[in-house]
Amino acid sequence: MKRRTKIAIALLILAGVGGMSAALFIGPRMRIQPNIRPHQAVFAPLPANLAPYSTPAGPPAASMPADQALAAGKVYYGYYCAFCHGAAGRGDGPVGESYTPAPADLRTAAVRGYSDAQLERAMLTGPGHEPVLEQVVWPAYRPALMAYVRQLAASQEAAASRPAP
Ligand code: HEC
Repeated sequence: MKRRTKIAIALLILAGVGGMSAALFIGPRMRIQPNIRPHQAVFAPLPANLAPYSTPAGPPAASMPADQALAAGKVYYGYYCAFCHGAAGRGDGPVGESYTPAPADLRTAAVRGYSDAQLERAMLTGPGHEPVLEQVVWPAYRPALMAYVRQLAASQEAAASRPAP
């Protein structure tokens, strides 16, 4: 083996070890993202009344009772939004930390003030999203997801109007 090849290999090994220890040092950042490993084979229970993906004309999520829609919306929020916008909607999810500007705080007056159509637009193609989410978030999930985002926003309003202790 030529000396230059040996040096190149040594450098590659060094870079690999360095990279791995950097990753260990920084640590996993996706802890809040629900995930299923193939060997676990137990899937998170889907909300009742949810139309299976392959059924063309199942009952839309909008026809769920409000509490069920909120519960379903919370699950979808965990799938699609929490890693950027944070579990409580503060814009502080682990992936969101890498964004400039940071993901929006979903509990602000601006988000509360959106009409349904505006909220849906902002959720799917809004600033920082590009048109990607539109193709990812299945239409039947959207009403429940929006109901949940509205609840996040309203909970902040309730917190703000609570009298100081
Ligand atoms: C890849 C990270 C990422 C994901 C995933 C994501 N967002 Fe966002 N979101 C952002 C960023 C970044 C912004 C823009 C912040 C800004 O420009 O002030 C944003 C903006 C928004 C806004 C607009 C707020 C405003 O003031 O106009 C809404 C609403 C929103 N997101 C909702 C959602 C919902 C609901 C989901 C899940 C379906 C979601 N986002 C998924 C990163 C993300």
